[in-house]
Amino acid sequence: MCGIIGYIGDRPVVPLLIDGLKKMEYRGYDSAGIALLKNDGFVIRRAQGKIKDLEKLIQSEDFPMTTGIGHTRWATHGVPSEENAHPHRDDKNRIVVVQNGIIENYMELKERLIKLGHVFTSQTDTEVIPHLIAEYFDGDLPKAVRKAIKELKGAFALLITSWEDPRLIAVREGPPMIVGKAEENGNGIGSGTLAASDIAAILEYTKSVYFLDDGEMAILSHDSIELTDFDGNPIEKEITKITWNPIQARKEGYQHFMQKEIFQQPETVRDTIMGRYNLEAGDIILDELKEIEIDNYTNYNYILMTACGTAWHACLVGKYLIERFSDLRVEVDYGSELRYRDPKIDKKTLMISISQSGETADTLAAIRAGKKKGGTLVSICNVVGSTIARESDAVIYTHCGPEIGVASTKAFTAQLAVLVLLALNIGRKTGKISADECRAILQDLIEIPQHIRTVLKQDGALKEFSKHYRDKKDFLYLGRGINYPIALEGALKLKEISYIHAEGYPAGEMKHGPIALISSDMPVVTLVTQNNVYEKTLSNLMEVKARDGEVIAIADEGDERINGIADHVFHVPKVSEVLSPILLTIPLQLLAYHVAVHLGCDVDQPRNLAKSVTVE
Ligand code: AGP
Repeated sequence: MCGIIGYIGDRPVVPLLIDGLKKMEYRGYDSAGIALLKNDGFVIRRAQGKIKDLEKLIQSEDFPMTTGIGHTRWATHGVPSEENAHPHRDDKNRIVVVQNGIIENYMELKERLIKLGHVFTSQTDTEVIPHLIAEYFDGDLPKAVRKAIKELKGAFALLITSWEDPRLIAVREGPPMIVGKAEENGNGIGSGTLAASDIAAILEYTKSVYFLDDGEMAILSHDSIELTDFDGNPIEKEITKITWNPIQARKEGYQHFMQKEIFQQPETVRDTIMGRYNLEAGDIILDELKEIEIDNYTNYNYILMTACGTAWHACLVGKYLIERFSDLRVEVDYGSELRYRDPKIDKKTLMISISQSGETADTLAAIRAGKKKGGTLVSICNVVGSTIARESDAVIYTHCGPEIGVASTKAFTAQLAVLVLLALNIGRKTGKISADECRAILQDLIEIPQHIRTVLKQDGALKEFSKHYRDKKDFLYLGRGINYPIALEGALKLKEISYIHAEGYPAGEMKHGPIALISSDMPVVTLVTQNNVYEKTLSNLMEVKARDGEVIAIADEGDERINGIADHVFHVPKVSEVLSPILLTIPLQLLAYHVAVHLGCDVDQPRNLAKSVTVE
């Protein structure tokens, strides 16, 4: 989730690039850079850290150039560093590129280009792009770009330029790309054309833009924009007039960052699984684990998972998955508990920690205690180079981009997606599951982003429905099996942003206490997928109904029986049971979000909460 900006015109480009990058800083950055076009080459300046570090780098230089591209990086491949920062160029300094996205087949392209004599300087996937374009470049930049992008697999938004053909080429296949003509609006540039990954970056200069769609590219000159498909056929597009103010622009029109991040989940799950499986072979590709897969996991006698909050719920799902796909025993503990008890950890213990921020104090203390006892540590993190990531023996990064809302949403579903891959990987490596079994799950997993889009279409109904719950004081969330942790997560989402008390419970435990609470004043939200405990869950619901309780069910599409029992039903697409936690989470996120909005709560920064709890 990086930030991209470019301009070609007759005004000094550096102030525009820096200003635009600053407006995208919230998207996350661990490094930033700009490339400026001269008549006979480029000037490239890149810095690790914040935009202000880049500003400091260039403050004593004078740049009269009027064409350039800029980038803020949220690392996915390659640690945050100057050489991994964008823009990237080919080794003959003819082409320069910035990217948002992931090139899935970059290793095979890189190997081929190295054989052709290309010299690489970074660990990034992006760097293959300028080298590949340079292979086809004969002075016609759009033609070379079209040839090169046909070989790219993955999701990418690109800005490309060359001093030999000084036009800007904007390409979209996945992440957003917006282009527009600068307008004379007093404080703007007034002439030239612009491109960016975010409206926020160029809103000051133009309010009339084209949103490129997948498979489209734009060729920007000083005073014209040519829109084509990847084959070069001209395309017609409507201009969109932007009415947002700058703050709204950062939220891309959503009311809150949390809402935006809920709606980013089709893309963030897609980006997280991309490049990490071989469907044909029925196998998983997690090269980051190579160092710790000692004797194909037979070296370990058990797995100990630890995290806090939402990430701890992900660990609970991970336990179901790993024990389903392998014979390894899995224990789960809160970081705050693990750090103070005397857990039996030694060199035959594989520890797995999960942390969006990679800075949570309790999780960090727990993994340090485990490492001291000889444990091997794999972490699932969303922040490259975070403390937990740096102290792990192996890290699997979720590719969500920064999660701004304090209540975790997209990071959680991405963690679940990684856990499916990790559990399948262990199952394949220990021989517990076959290639065919793995392929069947992968085929379902690849469809999940589309299923999430289907569930998100119920947002309006959930918004309307949630109005009736703003005055409730208590909620009970129930789930069984692999969906029990999702009941906990749904309860946490509601209580942390609406301040309504909510409790998650295994449905089978209700009669051991919580049933005493059932009344018409305490809605019972239940996850009811048609799995091996479906009948049991239905009888739990009938116990609720028999005590005048109100049941809100999240159920499989096509399940008619539940309609006769629950008071309200929201259906989600039926998928493999092991993937149902990802989908069932979405309506619970939306329910919590809309109840909190109806109550006028500060959804993005709830009272008393911090995005990363870096203290005990
Ligand atoms: C999640 O909605 C909460 N904000 C909180 O429980 C969070 O999951 C917990 O603090 C762990 O954070 P981490 O994933 O950054 O380690």
